[in-house]
Amino acid sequence: MERPLVLVGFMGCGKSSVARALASLLDCSATDTDALVELVAGMPVADIFATSGEAAFRRIETEQLEQALQAGGILATGGGILTREENRTLLKQAAEEGGLVVYLRAGAEELAQRIRKQPGKRPLIDGDEVLDLHATQARVEALLQQRAPWYTEVANLVVDTGAPGPDSVARRIVRMAGLRKPTVRP
Ligand code: S3P
Repeated sequence: MERPLVLVGFMGCGKSSVARALASLLDCSATDTDALVELVAGMPVADIFATSGEAAFRRIETEQLEQALQAGGILATGGGILTREENRTLLKQAAEEGGLVVYLRAGAEELAQRIRKQPGKRPLIDGDEVLDLHATQARVEALLQQRAPWYTEVANLVVDTGAPGPDSVARRIVRMAGLRKPTVRP
């Protein structure tokens, strides 16, 4: 797949799993901006936030986004990538040039439940203390309110994730966007 297929959405909406499911359906590879940033920094995202701060993380994230969009293919992005205007512009441009930007939409309660399955992984939610479900959900709601308009603004397809797993969400994206496996020419 030459044109980028980018998944955006809040932490815990399943971008990385859906990207892997899409890759297997469409017979191509998938990348993830968080994984690319970790590779460059040589440490997990939570450690980058702890040692160098969010601004340092965001700088590397933008560089990796730019390169990944040029390379094309399936890309899962970090949930906060749209907090930078520069990144919103890059993604809107990708969509205008024929790329597909999909917003994986989920409600705050579902997101909080998923985030709680990997405690301490998300510095902006539970990086500083152990939270109960109510407190996790309150933090998710506050951030989601700020970010939801950006996800909608850049996306040319919105898919509600709901209860079904990543395979079902990936199949829905393929159907809604009319995607096909690349044809192998002899
Ligand atoms: C972030 C989301 C994370 C990761 C970092 C910041 C955010 O990615 O990039 O912790 O600001 O929403 P996921 O959406 O894959 O959890």
